[in-house]
Amino acid sequence: MQKIILTGDRPTGRLHIGHYVGSLRRRVELQNSGAFDRIFIMIADAQALTDNADNPEKVRQNIIEVALDYMSCGLDPEKSVLFIQSQVSELTELTFFYMNLVTVQRVQRNPTVKAEIQMRGFNDAEGADNKAGTPVGFFCYPISQAADITAFQATTVPVGEDQEPMIEQTREIVRKFNATYGPTLTEPEILLPDNAACLRLPGTDGKAKMSKSLGNCIYLSDSAETVAEKVRGMYTDPGHLQVNDPGKVEGNTVFTYLDAFCRDEHFTRYADCFHGRKVSFDFHNLDEMKAQYRAGGLGDVMCKNFLNAVLNETLEPIRTRRKELEQDIPYVYEVLRKGSEVARAAAAETLAAVKRSMKINYFEPGVLAELIREQSEKYRNS
Ligand code: TRP
Repeated sequence: MQKIILTGDRPTGRLHIGHYVGSLRRRVELQNSGAFDRIFIMIADAQALTDNADNPEKVRQNIIEVALDYMSCGLDPEKSVLFIQSQVSELTELTFFYMNLVTVQRVQRNPTVKAEIQMRGFNDAEGADNKAGTPVGFFCYPISQAADITAFQATTVPVGEDQEPMIEQTREIVRKFNATYGPTLTEPEILLPDNAACLRLPGTDGKAKMSKSLGNCIYLSDSAETVAEKVRGMYTDPGHLQVNDPGKVEGNTVFTYLDAFCRDEHFTRYADCFHGRKVSFDFHNLDEMKAQYRAGGLGDVMCKNFLNAVLNETLEPIRTRRKELEQDIPYVYEVLRKGSEVARAAAAETLAAVKRSMKINYFEPGVLAELIREQSEKYRNS
């Protein structure tokens, strides 16, 4: 069996370092590992519209931002198909057929849908923007996501933890489809980050999630100065008032980010960060640094300077590459246009197989002749 990746993001903003450690970094590694036969990376504009119907311009503007972020992180159009969801209309057809295999009650139990309905205030008497009630399209997006994944017969879906209920729902749809109409679709596996800190990177303010609306994100496209400033303002351990007080590492955002980004060699490369006027440390790895922080004596400023150096090492090449790509917008759109064509051809094959299995391929060559024969027979003696 071929090994195929499908994954993607909603274009509702620029991508941040939570996206990076949660999925993007892994995608690039998988892409370059050569272990996959095909890789599809989708900009999910149609899904973004399910709760932005009144703001298509926001979605439109962010398609290029996400594409730039993808390519500057190392997603390579020579190796991965980068495409725009709405340009593959086969996906909506699949969605329509899958809708019959899922109950309203089942979608209502989907934890991500539940949380998002709450977050967006759809259930409030008077929603945040007077849009009380849940749009049907939004409610159905887990089903459309199953179409996204199965259209490419994806075996592997690298995503963040919040997408787990979507993949589970997809697997159920695949099983139901195959049981009802015969083996047609591939059941995908989720691929989560292996490091706990990467599963859900907190915001710079220590809140559970990085989110644009909370203003606690570090964006991949932030300048070095902006990142330094955001790192300086990061939430640490509120009980760590004096440098010599013992500090807490758990729930301390600086250490969570280090868990996600730092490697042993960074302690050699950025050893300077730990040589101050009053104190000086020689750490070889994050465990030693944590032990010192817990014991007291290691100040937040040193920790933040080190984190900033570590982050910058990852972000600088991304920034440089983005600057180059920003100067060649026609190329970026050409990548998306070509990618959408390739994706469309792949999805069309699955849609044809689906229609064949459901026997709604009436006008396919050979099928029509058989249909005519069968129905004529029925009326022969009447
Ligand atoms: N739901 C994903 C997000 O919120 C985007 C997405 C749409 C997706 N379809 C997908 C992810 C299929 C993985 C597979 O960003």
